[in-house]
Amino acid sequence: MAQVRMTVDGVEHTDDVEPRVLLVQYLREWLGKTGTAIGCDTSNCGACTVSLGGQSVKSCSVLAVQADGGEVTTIEGLARDGRLHPVQQAFHDNHALQCGYCTPGMIMQAVDLLGDNPEPSEQEVRHGLEGNLCRCTGYQNIVRAVQDAARKMRPEAAVEPAPDPADEPAPAAGRG
Ligand code: FES
Ligand code: FES
Repeated sequence: MAQVRMTVDGVEHTDDVEPRVLLVQYLREWLGKTGTAIGCDTSNCGACTVSLGGQSVKSCSVLAVQADGGEVTTIEGLARDGRLHPVQQAFHDNHALQCGYCTPGMIMQAVDLLGDNPEPSEQEVRHGLEGNLCRCTGYQNIVRAVQDAARKMRPEAAVEPAPDPADEPAPAAGRG
């Protein structure tokens, strides 16, 4: 047995695991993070993609002991204050999933891609996601969603427009 300690979705965990335990097994079976899927177990499909130390990794190709001391973010840690991450929201808005099996890994990979390249071309999105397989969607809406998220994550998109005084509710009658 080996002891591993890592922060997963903002919470620190310490556990004893056999050295052969994969990171994806640790996440799912020890921590109950079943949002991270296992598709192939042979590092082909990308369904198990998580962020480890800010880099996307296929968690079926990493041993839990290799992640010792690291910081892991799974699909379950992306939302903030009850709001979906912009990439999650864009997948929803652009109908970028059907069965949803590939989606957690696809989103984690897309987040990593946009971290490296905030304005990817269609070709760059396709290239960045080539390690993630989807057997349902044909990829078109996934690419569209990633580019939509990219637009919405740009700093200028985050500037809230000033409220229009015409939208202010009229004062209630009789008040004051
Ligand atoms: Fe890890 Fe398929 S389950 S790449
Ligand atoms: Fe079914 Fe991608 S939505 S595998």
